[in-house]
Amino acid sequence: MENRTGKEKQSYKKSKLWGGRFKEELSDSTERISSSIHFDYKLYRQDIRGTMAHAKMLQRIGILSKEELAAIVDELRKIEGEIEKGDFDFRPSLEDIHMNVESRLIERIGDAGRKVHTGRSRNDQIALDLRLYIRDESEEIKLLLKNLIALLVKLSSEYIDITMPGYTHLQVAQPVRLSHHLLAHAWNILRDIRRLNFTIDSCSDLPLGVGALAGVNYDNDREFLKMELNFKNITSNSMDTVSDRDFVLDFLYFSAVLGAHLSRFCEELVLWSTSEFGFITLSDKVTTGSSIMPQKRNPDLAELIRGKSGRLYGNLMSLLTTLKGLPLTYNRDLQEDKEPLFDSVDTIKLSLESMYEMVSTMRIEAGRMKRAVYTNFSTATDLADYLTKKGVPFRESHEIVGNIVRLCEEKSLDFFNLPFETIKKFSSHFGDDIMDILNPEGSTDMKASMGGTSPVEIRRQIELISKIIKEN
Ligand code: ARG
Repeated sequence: MENRTGKEKQSYKKSKLWGGRFKEELSDSTERISSSIHFDYKLYRQDIRGTMAHAKMLQRIGILSKEELAAIVDELRKIEGEIEKGDFDFRPSLEDIHMNVESRLIERIGDAGRKVHTGRSRNDQIALDLRLYIRDESEEIKLLLKNLIALLVKLSSEYIDITMPGYTHLQVAQPVRLSHHLLAHAWNILRDIRRLNFTIDSCSDLPLGVGALAGVNYDNDREFLKMELNFKNITSNSMDTVSDRDFVLDFLYFSAVLGAHLSRFCEELVLWSTSEFGFITLSDKVTTGSSIMPQKRNPDLAELIRGKSGRLYGNLMSLLTTLKGLPLTYNRDLQEDKEPLFDSVDTIKLSLESMYEMVSTMRIEAGRMKRAVYTNFSTATDLADYLTKKGVPFRESHEIVGNIVRLCEEKSLDFFNLPFETIKKFSSHFGDDIMDILNPEGSTDMKASMGGTSPVEIRRQIELISKIIKEN
């Protein structure tokens, strides 16, 4: 959206709703830096919802007649329809969404429109709009988060038989089921839902009705506004109410942590799709080619989601910095809260949709996972545990198995092609049953401790997480 049109330049002085005490026009740069309509138009639904509720309240306390209220509500609906259709002429000279809507109301219905801002300030108006906006967007984001978790849960049920290496330090550590790995990501996304719920909760106090900063000279009915706009509580201090942007910070923090989670998940998808790992093949739909290297298949989507964590962290930092040192109460700096918020909302939604697309269409290369888990001594710990269960102190078992691994490495063998007789030489406790221990599938079956990677525990996780999602 353009910042200012030529037609407006001539007429803006007259159209400013606060123009009364001014003799001179705003300078061009002041007008450009003031105007926020090119981004805060996004709040039109919430702004109109808030103004309707406020008008209803004004009618209840005798400031508007029934007819005036009807005209206001009717015109606000028309304005909303025009904005939806793209027929509304947003004017940068009117600064923001609040002034654009109110001016149009006045232009079209006259005095009733002029009364609508009674007992209200843009300071409590914007505090309301932002809360409503975060609440609305959060419900959509929650659905996207739940869909992604449901997908991971579904894949976990399907892939329960696939075993792969689990890593620490990106070195093969112990065998795990692929399902267990996927569910690990589902659990961290579930914590994001918890943080989102906290954010929604931090938007549950009604700010409208505190006026500019001190309260208002009308007997306004904030209880009515609370019910009408579906809030749980009412803010208690007018000065705090117009200065507070904690709820925006909460949303930006939620977004930043989710960004970290998605970024870590994407890093694994990038790694797994390399020819060196080859654990997955990403679909053509989500990969791109190179303009010069004909063989390339690049995981751009995963890289972009990984990269977007940068702006999500930046948005949080941006608002934290804006808020630092601001005196009470409202300061125009607070207008700088919106672009980071809108950007995080859009980034999160797009990233979650893309993540779903990528994970739901990837092909699992179970053979490659199997090869990796069979050839890298992934069951060495199980072998040590075997000896320990036969009475060898664990530190000694650890040493014995370490020696076996060293021998294998010297001879370029793995556990499976080392002759049993050779293994036996390391400890008289080794019996014929060690092949069961060395087998990675068997190894995962034995991790039946709570939270472990055994299929029984995985099924328990699946049930638990499915239940939690339903309750959230
Ligand atoms: N556009 C403004 C904002 O986003 C609305 C509040 C303006 N209040 C004021 N006193 N100038 O913060």
